[in-house]
Amino acid sequence: MSLRPYIVGNWKMHGTRAMLSEARAIDRAAQRHMKVEVALAPPYTLIHPVHREAEQIGVGAQDCHDADGGAHTGDISAAMIADAGAKFVILGHSERRQDHNEKDAIVRAKAESALAAGLRIIVCCGESEATRDSGRAVSFVKKQLKASLPERIDNALEKLTIAYEPIWAIGTGKTATVEDIAEMHGEIRALLIALYGEEHGSEVRILYGGSVKPENAAEILSTAQVGGALVGGASLTADSFMGIALAAGETDEG
Ligand code: PGA
Repeated sequence: MSLRPYIVGNWKMHGTRAMLSEARAIDRAAQRHMKVEVALAPPYTLIHPVHREAEQIGVGAQDCHDADGGAHTGDISAAMIADAGAKFVILGHSERRQDHNEKDAIVRAKAESALAAGLRIIVCCGESEATRDSGRAVSFVKKQLKASLPERIDNALEKLTIAYEPIWAIGTGKTATVEDIAEMHGEIRALLIALYGEEHGSEVRILYGGSVKPENAAEILSTAQVGGALVGGASLTADSFMGIALAAGETDEG
């Protein structure tokens, strides 16, 4: 069984209530593209408003704290985002790793906390340009991912999605070559099978992220082992985001 392509918009620190009309347009369009699973991760402040209006798309968060609650000024727990209507959370995005010095161990702790709160998780990984240039991209990403994934997930594997996002491709207009994407996704697949066994490890979707646009989506999404896309800039308007979803619906994987 192959799951539907998963197209997830990451609005990052963009969006006020004025952008709810865009989320509504994405939701309406998603109702016409049922071959594709469409989801949106707006900033925290828009999770509940988007959840209230969305009929088709899944709504999620871009991060959460690893603790259930307590004296953590400015932080938000997994249970709180679930209460606001989130169904999933993106964890370990390279901007979190960079801006907030998040290490693999904290990403793992957040992943465990999110699963305990009933959320699905999208765990991100990806190498810097220097690491790719040094020829160590594959070993770096496998090590990073292995250390970021929850220790125990055996009975919740349907809740796990991986996003491979080379840091140098995020927001830069550069994308990895189809060969490099296929190689990395193949390596990640092998790791998932080694960790969770053939039956479960082969089902987990591995998204590609980094300057995915309507123009390059068809090629990227039809690459071996690419189960969808994590989209930043191009998810901010319904037109470009749904252009990507449309391309996903036309791949063989769909
Ligand atoms: P981008 O961002 O599509 O703007 O490159 C992707 C991401 O960071 O998830």
